[in-house]
Amino acid sequence: MTNQQKMICMIDDSITSLTAGKEALNGDYNVITFASAIRFFEFITNFAKPDLILLDLKMPEMDGYEVIEQLKSNSETAHIPVIFLTSENDEDSEIKGFDLGACDFITKPISPPRLRKRVEVFFLLETQKQELIKYNNDLEKMVDARTQSVIELKNIVLTTMAELVEHRDPFTGNHIDRVQWYIKILLDALKAQGIYKDEIAALDENLVIYSSQLHDVGKIAINDSILLKPAKLSNDEYNEMKKHAEYGSNIIMRIKERSIDSGYLEYAMLFALYHHEKWDGSGYPHGLKGYDIPLLGRIMAIADVYDALVTVRPYKDALSHDSAVEIIRAEKAKSFDPILVDLFDGVNNEFELVSRNSVKNQYFH
Ligand SMILES: [Fe+2]
Repeated sequence: MTNQQKMICMIDDSITSLTAGKEALNGDYNVITFASAIRFFEFITNFAKPDLILLDLKMPEMDGYEVIEQLKSNSETAHIPVIFLTSENDEDSEIKGFDLGACDFITKPISPPRLRKRVEVFFLLETQKQELIKYNNDLEKMVDARTQSVIELKNIVLTTMAELVEHRDPFTGNHIDRVQWYIKILLDALKAQGIYKDEIAALDENLVIYSSQLHDVGKIAINDSILLKPAKLSNDEYNEMKKHAEYGSNIIMRIKERSIDSGYLEYAMLFALYHHEKWDGSGYPHGLKGYDIPLLGRIMAIADVYDALVTVRPYKDALSHDSAVEIIRAEKAKSFDPILVDLFDGVNNEFELVSRNSVKNQYFH
């Protein structure tokens, strides 16, 4: 917008001031003068909104304070900058004017060259302010886009790591995907029933679900001859297999040390390290008991075992959903947190839907 296109409304009951204002600004700006505030409000209501208002403080009928209050109370006019014109050289009226939203004061009688300069400086600052706002917005958008692409890249790398493990062990087909749904079902049920309320409230559910896919990432360090053995493992082999919990936790720890995003990896570490602990202390790697096992580990234990039971593995056939539910019930307070077993029981039909994989798309959002 050029200066000539900028509209300035000047409101003053003194014809001398209005004439001086026109003389100072006409030619450089589109100046419209009003001898009364009422005429000014008729104009801005019916015709156009100015870019700047020069407003006399002392006027009959409606004074400058009332005018600015009315302007600021209307969302269509609140943004229009107002410069007060005042012959009063007193601090109180200036402070009151600034409090009401005035952006500057010009003392009367009006000196045309000074008024011209003040208005010129005002518009210059206004332009710089707008440019700064635009620059900041552009910068924010650039940073957001950059951050988003870094997050996406990180997610792709971590998902790919989880998939690498899964592809080495083809018998578990889509195990990681299903486990994420089981975790979601249990978290939603916990939330709905207010169980472990404080712990659940402190979790970022989406990150928890996403991070659960890394729970078996430690299997990447397990030898194929053990991981893919189509028979029961020997004691030594089983002991080696059990190390995948700590291997996984160490891998995630190494990523975490080099990453600024700790939330997601913190959850992933809890899943990896504690998903084979058992409520009665007979699990691994640390043989933790009861509530010493972090909640995410206790949740994953049920999700992971249910999926192992209902799918074919190199060493076993798939069990039916009902048999898997029976086994999990029987392991209440042995392998699993008793409260979580009851919770699982209440939503086990939803587990069955996921395991059948038949209605996944319509069921989940
Ligand atoms: Fe595991």
